[in-house]
Amino acid sequence: MTQRFALPVRIAQFVRIVLRAATIGLAAGPAVAPAQDADAVARLLADKCVLCHQGDAAPGGLRLDSIDALLKGSAKGPVVKPGDASGSELVRRIRGQSQPRMPLTGPPFLSDAETALVERWIVAGAARPALAATAAPPQPAAPRDPAAPVTFADVQPILGARCAKCHTDNGLMGPPPEGYRLNNYANAVSSLDRARIVPGQPRASELWRRIHGVSQPRMPFDGPPWLDDAQVALIEAWIAAGARDASGTPMPNPVGARVRLRGVLTAPDAVDGARFKPGGRIDRGVSVGSAVQLEATVDADGRLVAVRLRRR
Ligand code: HEC
Ligand code: HEC
Repeated sequence: MTQRFALPVRIAQFVRIVLRAATIGLAAGPAVAPAQDADAVARLLADKCVLCHQGDAAPGGLRLDSIDALLKGSAKGPVVKPGDASGSELVRRIRGQSQPRMPLTGPPFLSDAETALVERWIVAGAARPALAATAAPPQPAAPRDPAAPVTFADVQPILGARCAKCHTDNGLMGPPPEGYRLNNYANAVSSLDRARIVPGQPRASELWRRIHGVSQPRMPFDGPPWLDDAQVALIEAWIAAGARDASGTPMPNPVGARVRLRGVLTAPDAVDGARFKPGGRIDRGVSVGSAVQLEATVDADGRLVAVRLRRR
């Protein structure tokens, strides 16, 4: 007799299992092929993150040049927990729940749609992309035309990898040191409180002086290693060619901006070869050979006009 009832019971069980599977399927998110989302996530990372997160010097050891690399995580461990978007460090950084917020070049940060894409991909299980697109489009630094002027596109990877982790809001040292942000072009060339770059004049630019070491403390603050000679030369050439933005437009002369240079008075009118128009207040005992701090303003011709010369 029991045999007769067994079949309907099994069918009922089967129906329950199918129903439960369908519910789980629904909870897992909209019916978008996970592999497609994975492709879109890989492209997003290539577009917004790979600038810094690539190679041996990837920040935190986190490479984002492929989904495989992303899933390997950082030196601290995984940054994606499949199925758990809000528990994933990747999402916390994108949303700014962990600081510094990513991408470090922001604002702008990711759009709501981009953030939703990353979350949906994680909730659906953080699948790998379809075979054909396993890796994000590689971004080999296109060999630059040596005749073309250096632009911000050439130097940004250096600033992103070596400087922006401190020189940004909520960076490694909290607020940006000296209020100076190096996370994007507008901030790097800003002269609102002080100009650290005088276009055409690397020696009058505290940024160049700090990476070169004529001005102390030398940058990056957590060095050595310092920037290598080729990197220093590239940034020098960028400033010399007018500190151009990524599209090649030179920075305007920051007329009236304040400038502060630290170094050694090498002539009555020069700090380590950076010439200035003497004047203003001069501390007693300052003479050629003294360690000094020059405070100056920039005139319409881009020359430094001394306001104050202090001993250091
Ligand atoms: C301008 C360079 C730069 C860009 C662009 C950038 N990052 Fe970062 N990222 C960093 C630095 C520097 C750190 C390390 C900061 C720290 O110590 O917390 C970091 C840390 C992280 C971490 C934390 C790793 C860990 O476990 O400690 C995540 C996750 C992250 N970034 C994701 C992203 C994503 C996603 C993008 C693109 C949307 C992005 N980053 C773009 C520089 C950058
Ligand atoms: C580990 C954190 C850290 C890193 C990384 C770092 N800096 Fe700094 N930076 C500081 C601190 C702290 C100061 C203030 C030191 C002082 O002048 O006493 C500073 C000051 C500066 C100043 C002087 C600002 C002014 O108003 O005169 C410049 C320019 C600068 N940094 C450029 C850079 C560059 C370029 C890099 C990358 C090559 C870099 N920094 C990397 C922490 C950092």
